[in-house]
Amino acid sequence: MKSENTQTNDFKNILLEAVSSGVYLLTINRPKVLNALNADTLEEMNQALSKISADRSARVLLIKGSGEKAFVAGADIEHMSHLTPIEAKTFAEHGMHLFRRLETLNIPVVALVNGYALGGGCELAMSCDFILAADNAKFGQPEVNLGITPGFGGSQRLTRLVGRAMAMELLVTGRSMSAEEGLQRGLVNHVYPQSELLDRGLELASMIAGKSNNAIQLTKQLVQRGQDLDLDNACVMESDLFGLSFSTPDRTEGMAAFLENRKPNFD
Ligand code: CAA
Repeated sequence: MKSENTQTNDFKNILLEAVSSGVYLLTINRPKVLNALNADTLEEMNQALSKISADRSARVLLIKGSGEKAFVAGADIEHMSHLTPIEAKTFAEHGMHLFRRLETLNIPVVALVNGYALGGGCELAMSCDFILAADNAKFGQPEVNLGITPGFGGSQRLTRLVGRAMAMELLVTGRSMSAEEGLQRGLVNHVYPQSELLDRGLELASMIAGKSNNAIQLTKQLVQRGQDLDLDNACVMESDLFGLSFSTPDRTEGMAAFLENRKPNFD
């Protein structure tokens, strides 16, 4: 599937394109430094999320790195090498805030990981709702090699995603995990040949964009908010949002379409 209706903008470190109806593609665009994240890039990503949040027709966000070698090779080490402890804390808070914003964005966010997703890159991918990986993807938190800890949530999200023992192994050795290993450990949803990754991502996005946006938004809330609740309270929340979904036009259309034996048309 090829991109259509492409729009670009004047960001310096990222590209934001509306590639098809309701589908945004955000590309981290610093290929010379393997798309490393500096403060300006984080700020531009924040602005991009504001733009997407304000667009009521937005349905899915895909995130990728530019070039063939890397998704994101981490926070920018050159930038970090000049930071004082207080500035480093502020930099981490900036990244944390952005990644939490991404995680709780009202539409699904999918990482297309092509090549290295290290440090801040692995943290970015883990803040997305799920990950499609190219067969050359490499995931890891190599901060121990730099004498620092992860700073954009890696120690917490990796532990939640792959379990404490494996997270500890990856964090204290700094070793990388292949796409296949990521798949086995539940970090990655699917692995594709590198040349197919974008097309597969666009196909998936277009499928999601055709579903009920009301139902998807409520479902994302259930999964995001529910994972931090005990089962009783999480189930109460599910029955509440189930009830709420019956107030939406999508419920009327979805059920009518089923009963009339036709495809639903969710606008
Ligand atoms: N920050 C800044 N620049 C980076 C970078 C990073 N994270 N990763 C790569 N680059 C730059 C390199 O300095 C190099 O620039 P020059 O051409 O000007 O020398 C360019 O990108 C290409 O990189 P390499 O020549 O190193 O490419 P390679 O194929 O030999 O190695 C790599 C690739 C294994 C990814 C290697 O670049 C590497 O180890 N990068 C650092 C990975 C890392 O440690 N990431 C974690 C950062 S800390 C962090 O993210 C903290 C946090 O949680 C917030």
